[in-house]
Amino acid sequence: MKTRVLTGITTSGTPHLGNYVGAIRPSVAASRNHDVDAFYFLADYHALIKCDDPARVMRSRLEIAATWLACGLDPERVTFYRQSDIPEIPELTWMLTCVAPKGLMNRAHAYKAAVDANSSSGEDADAGINLGLYSYPVLMAADILIFNAHRVPVGRDQVQHIEMTRDIGQRFNHIYGKAWRAASGRDGDPFVLPEVMLEERVATLPGLDGRKMSKSYNNTVPLFEGGSKAMREAIAKIVTDSREPGEPKDPDSSSLYAIYRAFASESDAAAYREALQTGLGWGEAKQQLAALIESELGDAREKYARLMAHPGEIEEILRAGAVKARAIATPSVRQLRETVGLGSLADSRSNRPHPNPPPLAGEGDERAARAGGGQSTSKSAKRARIVSFRDAQGFRFRLLAVDGQELLLSNTFTDPKRSGEITRALLATDAAPVTEAVGGTRYALLLDGERIATSPEYADALERDAAITTLMSALESLRS
Ligand code: TRP
Repeated sequence: MKTRVLTGITTSGTPHLGNYVGAIRPSVAASRNHDVDAFYFLADYHALIKCDDPARVMRSRLEIAATWLACGLDPERVTFYRQSDIPEIPELTWMLTCVAPKGLMNRAHAYKAAVDANSSSGEDADAGINLGLYSYPVLMAADILIFNAHRVPVGRDQVQHIEMTRDIGQRFNHIYGKAWRAASGRDGDPFVLPEVMLEERVATLPGLDGRKMSKSYNNTVPLFEGGSKAMREAIAKIVTDSREPGEPKDPDSSSLYAIYRAFASESDAAAYREALQTGLGWGEAKQQLAALIESELGDAREKYARLMAHPGEIEEILRAGAVKARAIATPSVRQLRETVGLGSLADSRSNRPHPNPPPLAGEGDERAARAGGGQSTSKSAKRARIVSFRDAQGFRFRLLAVDGQELLLSNTFTDPKRSGEITRALLATDAAPVTEAVGGTRYALLLDGERIATSPEYADALERDAAITTLMSALESLRS
């Protein structure tokens, strides 16, 4: 099975070199790994917590999406989407809010830092703190748990949030595990508990003044905005000492060498280090650094400019990503709604009325039941349909999507009545069939705990999950 790797980027700023080295570059590289199923998203709901300037949020979403695409993220391969395009995320956030211990939230670093800042300036402890900041970790838990991510690459400042995600997920698993297994017909737990992935080697890049490069320190080197000119100007401002060209310099006391190392091969970095130690001038060293960065980022810079000039293309890519993401989120949240008691009353298993099956169409070797019930089938029917047939082993049926694509092939039944019973049960308005993964690329359909049919083989888990969504809506349409 592939490892699902998920990470979000808060859309409240303009990407800088530190973001590139610490997050964008390693994440794009990881997404090319064949064992990885990557989910990368714009955390634009999170942006509202710290930014109430609509123009800033809007602009940042565009810049960040363009940056990721320019840096080589392949939206065909990665599920690349916007948090605010997935309404299931705030829906799950509420379910998780209702199991998240308040005491746990009190201990969140970001909230505590805000309280401490208030206290030390003599303000009321909660002055200026919105509830979004307080429950920030719950929204983040929903981001991660909704897709059952295995690994979450983040910076050191986010490690606590992943631990909280595990706590909240575990609590939900504990409280609702049994109900979820009943609602879904699956084994195991509703949520995978994610592992944090901390890239120690590249986690932080120093900024102009030697402290961690960060927007809040105002010491960043812009990645693409302002073009290569803005980058060169920023590099020129990197703090150095006053040693003249020819004088030996300490590479470790300036950001120059640290940034250089993040872009150079080991041997080039060693050569640069030695050149500084043997008297390379700071001005020349800065030019060499700018040239090195440009050699890695030049092509991406052009791509960035092109994308920024065509925001409609970016919008389209993000919407396609949301469709892929929702193919997973929609059925899972539907199951979670059922789990917590918010499912359809008609589906309620506890007061299930006797099923009132729709009639099956005519007799014969090929019988069909279609939406609307009873009409005979035709090859051009623009609706999902069930086609019953007989083969050497016995009786079976296929469920076909609107476009004729086969969604399911049933088991073989020696008794044709049994085959009919099962199709009727499947289409009963209170039927609650569930799907179950079979390996990584197929699924089975279970009705009342019994496996009745299996899907064809799909290229990957993503395609399979998309087919499950198609299946569920085909069944829905057949019932109406
Ligand atoms: N809070 C993260 C940050 O500011 C962004 C984020 C939101 C995130 N949701 C996430 C990261 C889920 C990883 C997984 O960096």
